Amino acid sequence: MLKNKRILLGVSGGIAAYKSPSICSLLRKKGSEVKVMMTENAKEFITPLSLQTMSNNTVHSKMFNQLLNTDVEHISLAKWADIIVIAPATANIIGKFANGICDNLLTTVFMASRCRVLIVPAMNTEMLNSPANINNMEILKKRGIVILDTEKDLLACNDYGSGKMLSPEKIVDAIDDNLTEKDLAGKKFLITAGPTVEPLDPVRFLTNHSSGKMGYALAANAQKRGAEVTLITGPTNIEPPKVHRLVKINTTQDMFGAVGKYFDDCHVLIKAAAPADYKPKYYSKDKIKKNSSNYLDVIELEKNPDIAKYYGKNKVGQIIVGFAAESTNIYKYAKEKLISKNLDMIVVNNIVKAGAGFGTDTNIASIIDKNGETEDFEIMSKSELANIILNKVKNLFS
Ligand code: PMT
Repeated sequence: MLKNKRILLGVSGGIAAYKSPSICSLLRKKGSEVKVMMTENAKEFITPLSLQTMSNNTVHSKMFNQLLNTDVEHISLAKWADIIVIAPATANIIGKFANGICDNLLTTVFMASRCRVLIVPAMNTEMLNSPANINNMEILKKRGIVILDTEKDLLACNDYGSGKMLSPEKIVDAIDDNLTEKDLAGKKFLITAGPTVEPLDPVRFLTNHSSGKMGYALAANAQKRGAEVTLITGPTNIEPPKVHRLVKINTTQDMFGAVGKYFDDCHVLIKAAAPADYKPKYYSKDKIKKNSSNYLDVIELEKNPDIAKYYGKNKVGQIIVGFAAESTNIYKYAKEKLISKNLDMIVVNNIVKAGAGFGTDTNIASIIDKNGETEDFEIMSKSELANIILNKVKNLFS
């Protein structure tokens, strides 16, 4: 959760400093306040003006620049931050941190800080793997400081190997992860996402418009909040989040089997997927020729298992959250599903409303609890809605 968080970004003198303005920009777009400290060497790679512009704050670099304000700058900066992020972190800075050297503003603020520290290394492969640097990183890890990995790539020095700084997007994700309270730690979430595909022949199948975004947002946020997430997903066009276990399926029957495999061991089942209620009664192993039969004129369908209903009837202590994709009488139909499927909560979204339902990054939903209490929500990102749903699930634990 980055909204209203105070991020103190330290920039040291490596070529990867050119990415630090992008880090500032991404953090501010997610609602964080960003202040920047930079070493004198960093100024060889990026100007203070660039960082001042992208952070929308003054850039701090000199120890004795008291003209800026009356308080002791390195102490006030250290106290201000929710997290200090050093990106890029050179071998030099890592060595100074590990050995308590305070010879500039950045190292002095680090020494005075008591908040979380995230170090993002960027250096030549040989320096990264040098005994001194490895020892220094071990010292810092033992003090509870988080040091991110680097990536393998062609480096600025034309060597190929590890040492490349992570992308701004991955760094911001790591900051978000570090600032998110692990309030779901110890809980096992089983989450379904996306559509199912019901084949007619090797070429044709029935499916729906589910993109997987709602389920992926639930899985990503539950995992970030410390839960052990098993994500069962139909075929989608977006990258699923990094979770404890990812299970890819095609048909509703596949999804039914996958849920069955992990249901007994989970605390919560969230059914955000859109499994097909029906499948073609007959599957042709060869492509059905257009003029060969009237089979394509009338396709007979048969029912698929109702997964939520089955597990609603067979749960033993698990919390089951369902979704209702409706276009009319949304509360009536959602309440009927809440009862008929024996759910603990149902999230209803009007799939014909702009900004809601299938494929959108946002959703407009109402949440109905077991007692029929309904809470309506304005349009918001599926990630924000996911956290609201997870908060309600968390309340059911207690
Ligand atoms: O994936 P996105 O593009 O982000 O879209 C999100 C969404 C619109 C798919 C999601 O918000 C949503 O509404 N998911 C439920 C879709 C659906 O199948 O709704 P339903 O009213 O038909 O089903 C009710 C509940 O029963 C759902 O929890 C569903 O997962 C479950 N179900 C349905 C059919 C079936 N055979 N087995 C089930 O478990």
